[in-house]
Amino acid sequence: MFNEERRFEQPFRWAMVGGGRGSQIGYAHRSAAQRDGLFTLVAGAFDLDPQRCRDFGTNLGVAADRCYAGYKEMFEAEAGRADGIQAVSIATPNSTHYEICKAALNAGLHVVCEKPITFTTEEAEELKALAADKGRVIGVMYGYSGFPMVQQAREMVQRGDLGEIRVINMQFAHGFHNEEYEKNDPGLKWRVSPQASGPTYVLGDIGTHVFFLGEMITGLEVERLSCMRQSFIPSRAPLEDNAHVMMQFKGGAVGTLWASAVNAGSMHQQKIRIVGAKASIEWWDEYPNQLRYEIQGEPARVLERGMNYLYQDAAGVSANRIGGGHAEGFFESWANLYHRFALAFDAADRDDQATLSELWFPGIDAGIEGVRLCEKCVESADQNAAWVEYK
Ligand code: NAI
Repeated sequence: MFNEERRFEQPFRWAMVGGGRGSQIGYAHRSAAQRDGLFTLVAGAFDLDPQRCRDFGTNLGVAADRCYAGYKEMFEAEAGRADGIQAVSIATPNSTHYEICKAALNAGLHVVCEKPITFTTEEAEELKALAADKGRVIGVMYGYSGFPMVQQAREMVQRGDLGEIRVINMQFAHGFHNEEYEKNDPGLKWRVSPQASGPTYVLGDIGTHVFFLGEMITGLEVERLSCMRQSFIPSRAPLEDNAHVMMQFKGGAVGTLWASAVNAGSMHQQKIRIVGAKASIEWWDEYPNQLRYEIQGEPARVLERGMNYLYQDAAGVSANRIGGGHAEGFFESWANLYHRFALAFDAADRDDQATLSELWFPGIDAGIEGVRLCEKCVESADQNAAWVEYK
């Protein structure tokens, strides 16, 4: 059983860019990062509005002189302090990630960045090279990948419990934007604007999450894909509020991905089903403590988090925080990831390459593949859903 004893002498001095008052995802970052005492929030450029940033930051307990009007000012001022920040999380709209991430790496900081990490794979590759050059780590917030039952799914596939993988069925299809709510919702308005959101809406916003689950659980690489995307709310064009992708993976497996914000009546419907030659597994983020395991010819089973029949997480950082039967959820998944990010940052600071190579976490390569998915889907959809080579 996990407990918070497992911590460093000193938590990382940590800041946020974005995630200010009223933002959708700021609290999730702060809650997860600080859960295990591995990060302490000491500075921030939380908001586009400097006054609101200061007001908000001081309410969080950040010193007024460390609530900054912008990220450039923050990186510069903090670099001049003996107790300056060591890591930063970026939770701003998509269009800003690349510039802020680059500036953070140049300032010598470890980074946790929101997805999609950039607009183009070239930009994401550039960030990867810069991070390597500076000896810094980039974590990417694929927040659903920290659930213990997702880690169990990964372990089962990798140990061969399902046999050879044949089909991967992925979907993240909610119904929250079935009407033109962006008229009164700034957080949705930027998501449907190419200038702020990038080349896609639902593919980047939610499709990348379940695509990453598929990648991490199976380890398979896409070879070719075909994508059809459309906007049922016409003003969202050219961005899509619904997309279907067919995929062929290297080695012969095939798959589909459905990303949608117009699946009326649905809450999330983020589900992944992996079909092997002997058995299948299925995970649904609305019931994250359970994993369906169906062996051909036997009654279906539901594996429950916290039980001794599960595989032990080798790194020990996605362990149960409470016994089985209790509901762990989204915040625990995020805290498990922030825990892994902290271990990676610490290993990089000590130049401990062995730990870095053994520790699993969603890093820059995961970020790059999410961006590539968006790029390739657009390339295919623009050619009437033609099959395109993935790399
Ligand atoms: P939001 O629009 O609700 O909030 C954005 C926040 O960033 C606001 O506080 C705004 O004032 C601030 N901001 C904007 N530009 C800034 C700048 N240049 N400097 C400092 N602050 C700035 O956006 P939301 O929904 O919180 O999304 C932020 C990012 O997080 C997006 O990239 C989105 O894709 C991602 N996201 C990821 C989720 C996940 O599960 N990993 C879930 C929701 C969002």
